[in-house]
Amino acid sequence: MTADGTPPLSELHDLLRTRFSPLAFDPRHSLSSAEVDLLLEAARWAPSAGNSQPWAFVAERRGEPAHAQLVRHLAGSSRRWASSASVLIVNISHRFVDDTTMEYSEFADYDLGQAVAHLTLQAQAMGLACRQFRAFDLPALSEELSVSPGWFIVSMVAVGVPAGPGAPQRDRRTLRSLVTAPFTDGDDDV
Ligand SMILES: Cc1cc2nc3c(=O)[nH]c(=O)nc-3n(C[C@H](O)[C@H](O)[C@H](O)COP(=O)(O)O)c2cc1C
Repeated sequence: MTADGTPPLSELHDLLRTRFSPLAFDPRHSLSSAEVDLLLEAARWAPSAGNSQPWAFVAERRGEPAHAQLVRHLAGSSRRWASSASVLIVNISHRFVDDTTMEYSEFADYDLGQAVAHLTLQAQAMGLACRQFRAFDLPALSEELSVSPGWFIVSMVAVGVPAGPGAPQRDRRTLRSLVTAPFTDGDDDV
């Protein structure tokens, strides 16, 4: 234990301890389609409410024509680093049944996030790193990909080999605040 009662970071599993979201990717690195399939396989085996699996992915490797199509819709802020990643993946949630207002799953976005987390750790185990992001033109990308009614693009993830100086200094809320913040008599130091 550290002085403030937080377990030392060294006790976390290596995959979690070493993970970070790079802001630079090696533009010389490429992924095979089999490696991309393995990333998606990790997402496929994620848990979901009622095993509803409310997710879909569009994965395009750098150098493919459809990759350029995705890059066109990136915001300037993400284009700087995401376009040199080895693969860009669009994360899509199945929120509603067709074009109705009936929920396909109350947990669609939750489960999609969980699937992406699994993909992220699989990438880490393969010596890769991921940066998830929302800095893209959502309406234009949805139109370009002809996303079906009831399905919604939530985020993208850039995957590749990190370039540059490695993980920046990263901050987190305290462990105590995680178990007290939402309660009225809790700690407001979040
Ligand atoms: C849903 C989601 C959206 C994000 N959107 C962006 C984004 O638009 N631009 C960006 O640079 N980073 C984005 N990030 C990355 C976060 O900023 C990053 O995960 C956070 O700062 C924690 O850093 P770490 O992943 O290195 O621990 C996003 C992350 C998530 C999970």
